[in-house]
Amino acid sequence: MDIAMIGTGYVGLVSGTCFAESGNQVTCVDIDQRKIDRLNQGEIPIYEPGLSELVVRNATAGRLQFTTDLTSAVKTARVVYLAVGTPQGDDGSADLSALWSVVDSIAPHITEDVVIVTKSTVPVGTNAGIYERLQEINGKKYHVASNPEFLKEGAAINDFMYPDRVVVGVRDEQVAEVLKELYSPFLRTDKPFLAMSPESAELTKYVANALLATKISFINEMANLCEALSGDINDVRRGIGHDQRIGFAFLFPGVGYGGSCFPKDVRALSSMSKNHNLPPTILDAVDEINHRQKHVLIERIESHFENNLAGKTFALWGLAFKPKTDDIREAPALVMIDRLLEQGAVVRVFDPEAMDNVREIYGDKIQYANRSIDALKGADVLAINTEWDVFRHPDFEEVKAMMSEPLIFDGRNLYDTEQMRKLGFTYYSIGRPAVVNEVPVD
Ligand SMILES: NC(=O)c1ccc[n+]([C@@H]2O[C@H](COP(=O)([O-])OP(=O)(O)OC[C@H]3O[C@@H](n4cnc5c(N)ncnc54)[C@H](O)[C@@H]3O)[C@@H](O)[C@H]2O)c1
Repeated sequence: MDIAMIGTGYVGLVSGTCFAESGNQVTCVDIDQRKIDRLNQGEIPIYEPGLSELVVRNATAGRLQFTTDLTSAVKTARVVYLAVGTPQGDDGSADLSALWSVVDSIAPHITEDVVIVTKSTVPVGTNAGIYERLQEINGKKYHVASNPEFLKEGAAINDFMYPDRVVVGVRDEQVAEVLKELYSPFLRTDKPFLAMSPESAELTKYVANALLATKISFINEMANLCEALSGDINDVRRGIGHDQRIGFAFLFPGVGYGGSCFPKDVRALSSMSKNHNLPPTILDAVDEINHRQKHVLIERIESHFENNLAGKTFALWGLAFKPKTDDIREAPALVMIDRLLEQGAVVRVFDPEAMDNVREIYGDKIQYANRSIDALKGADVLAINTEWDVFRHPDFEEVKAMMSEPLIFDGRNLYDTEQMRKLGFTYYSIGRPAVVNEVPVD
């Protein structure tokens, strides 16, 4: 099938590449000339495990192309996918300006048998709006479908190739059949292809993200309570997780969720609720808890130092909003960096993949280490914001030797508190009792 993928970001590039991998002819389009130039030179503009190899293989085979020429890409396409960004607007609702601009631009160049599919996360009613807008412009009836994407950055290829389910929002059976055929290579293990109305499909994406965000904010609120009541959230987590009605997934306490999806999607769903005079009580609480949680670790640091951070050196491990991505949108680490800089601290950072993105924001206001261990040289504090595997088993004796004092603030509960005590660290984590520096035990 000939596919035009409009928007070549995390979602468009991964989806386009995976569709090419299953034998389709895919043209990825973007307005960012630099991004397209890099892709045409075989350079991948984002970090996503396994993506580079797939892009190169399919581009070399002639199944995957990159261009800024929207018109020629859509002229020959059987399916036109919309995968542009839908960031948060000023009032919390989704900003659809990129999407509408694409719809207006493609309208004069598409034929009536094309299927236009929205992969971007869009408010309920957008697909109906696209149908109407195209009809207004061209006077023709187009096939418009919703196909929300559930991939996770860091595991995006696997999620796309082996989805738990595929959801499509369609008005007629024929369109469902086209999309079913397109997805059939990815659904061989009998995973469901769920066809529903466009409105239900649009909602499904928001509801899924809102529920996952709710789980995170819930466990974070409980973690803070554990700390206040001398409990240990790890024990509580195990105590509840073995209950099959509850389970363990997405119940890891930490310094809050970030990224390009959960924060904006929770707010956009809240905005949709308010527009229909329904109070988004849970959604707003989830957002509020998450906002506060991003400040929990830095406030603990401030209280440890009695608000005197000026001149102290902070080593920060982990900048991306989660491991295995270079995405720093709404990352908790940025909140910490800002507050440390405001108070005159020296900030030295390390992340396996997100350094370039952070450098674009902070330039020479902070220092950049080449290796995690280098960040620790003479540091007064090690603070951890992202649970990259590489941080899980450092050589603690070396860590201690590098630092001016053995002091760790761990926003992801990577280490065993008893081990930290034995090693002689002062160790603060989330929802677990603080370990106050003691003489090391052999
Ligand atoms: N990132 C994720 O994990 C994820 C997962 C599921 C769904 N989504 C949704 O998918 C959509 C895209 O997200 P993303 O993370 O890929 O965003 P992104 O910011 O990485 O990519 C968006 C791309 O669209 C391009 N673009 C903007 N205007 C354009 C135009 N007029 N013509 C052509 N290209 C244009 C941008 O240059 C950019 O490359 C969003 O709605 C998001 O909510 C994202």
